[in-house]
Amino acid sequence: MAYYQHPLDVTTLSSWQHLDQHREAMRSFSMREAFQSDSRRFEDFSLSACGLFLDYSKNLISRETRDLLVSLAREAGLEQAIRALFKGECVNASEGRPALHTALRQPFGDRLEVNGVNLIPEVHRVLHQMTELVGRIHDGLWRGYTEKPITDVVNIGIGGSFLGPQLVSEALLPFAQRGVRCYYLANIDGSEFHELSAKLRAETTLFIVSSKSFSTLETLKNAQAARNWYLAQGGSESELHRHFIAVSSNTKAAVEFGIREENIFPMWDWVGGRYSLWSAIGLPIALTIGMSNFKELLSGAYTMDQHFLQAPFESNMPVLLALLGVWYGNFWGAQSHAILPYDHYLRNITKHLQQLDMESNGKSVRQDGSPVTTSTGPVIWGGVGCNGQHAYHQLLHQGTPLIPADFIVPVVSYNPVVDHHHWLYANCLSQSQALMLGKTREEAEAELRAKGLSEDKVQALAPHKVIPGNRPSNTLVLERIDPRRLGALVALYEHKVFVQSVIWGINAFDQWGVELGKELGKGVYQRLTGFDQPAAEDASTQGLIDYFRGRHRG
Ligand code: F6P
Repeated sequence: MAYYQHPLDVTTLSSWQHLDQHREAMRSFSMREAFQSDSRRFEDFSLSACGLFLDYSKNLISRETRDLLVSLAREAGLEQAIRALFKGECVNASEGRPALHTALRQPFGDRLEVNGVNLIPEVHRVLHQMTELVGRIHDGLWRGYTEKPITDVVNIGIGGSFLGPQLVSEALLPFAQRGVRCYYLANIDGSEFHELSAKLRAETTLFIVSSKSFSTLETLKNAQAARNWYLAQGGSESELHRHFIAVSSNTKAAVEFGIREENIFPMWDWVGGRYSLWSAIGLPIALTIGMSNFKELLSGAYTMDQHFLQAPFESNMPVLLALLGVWYGNFWGAQSHAILPYDHYLRNITKHLQQLDMESNGKSVRQDGSPVTTSTGPVIWGGVGCNGQHAYHQLLHQGTPLIPADFIVPVVSYNPVVDHHHWLYANCLSQSQALMLGKTREEAEAELRAKGLSEDKVQALAPHKVIPGNRPSNTLVLERIDPRRLGALVALYEHKVFVQSVIWGINAFDQWGVELGKELGKGVYQRLTGFDQPAAEDASTQGLIDYFRGRHRG
């Protein structure tokens, strides 16, 4: 397996230096003026791919900006990097492995050889295993300990073993099959378990312990709590196999927990947690929408993979989104990026993209261990519109930071209520319009005068009414949210994140930063619960431990 390596410090590339100069030239760029002077701007800065339409005309870019950004991608070795990703080269150098989530979407009959082994038959063997399980549960053939069919499925998992499946299963609820309800148990907070278990009956509940490593504290504690609850409700050890299955690459640990080997769905070390919803980690998705819809999801993602592989960078959706992010993050000082879905079913996409983007690109050293010389991944935040308009959009419109935003909206609603969907769509468009147009001082003054205010009042109020505008956004329109388009949408962001990691020369597929908190957590737990423990490393943590212990004693 060849080792993938990023060429150079990106800031030394000539295209980077051109972009630096170009940024200066763009200081006074006005989107308002660009639209006025260029009747083709919308056509030239929009594209369709895989059932998604992207309008990126409301950005602080000219054709020259796009050309320079594309040159940067080429100079940074993006073509080779994309090929390396899909071929299974070692793009995750610090963990010594490839990142082959794209293999999970490859059709039956394709070949992908890594170290002499064709991975595709194994991928499809597991899809077949999933099909059998889903069929048995949907047909009422998988029975609990009282011989009643399963009605509720609880996915116990956290991070990538939770956020992706939750996003997709809830986004595709209009495609739900009758029969089973899926719930998610992620946090170690006992209240989550308490509230959820109160809704369930052990005899008709199946738990999926979803953990690639089968060593994640939160998941193991919740699995243990679920098991105790199941036994307390009348289940027995001998019937445990009817109520607990697992998805994991650590078969040994899952068997030790008490799960039968034939009920353990494999995961592979070449799939990262936050890229794993396409694998058996997607079981709750398949149980919600059925296996044929799950396969549609995979094929939607596959079409995006093909687009990413084949489209020229100038019209390559993930590449363009990534380069726009680099433009704002590295040349305009933007530190965050808002994800604003205008659809109830997509309400969890921001959370999924937070993990996808921030766990992937929240890095400060490059693949070779040298420090980065630029800022890397932004803070991803946001939430569903219109709710956000009445909460945090104020900061987008008049706050001091520059925050690029992605609006995501479907044309068709599955639940038309009078004209609500027209209003929702109108709000989405008018937000990006307002961000771009803003309101000038002259416009603000004219508006106030038209209301009959005295000149003193006009002058006092006008500064508060000015909205700077010229704030960038992308709008992604889907005809509807269906398995294929959602698959393409999620894959679009996966590839966007990868492209940015290549530009910055970082590893998008490890996550060493989360380890330290896990390690220290053990010591803090011992100090909270044990005696004769050494003092914590710092006085603040020790003080907070003492506070907790003092209250618990009382
Ligand atoms: O701690 C972070 C993390 O490792 C994520 O990358 C991962 O998605 C999550 O924990 C859960 O891991 P696992 O599936 O191994 O339980």
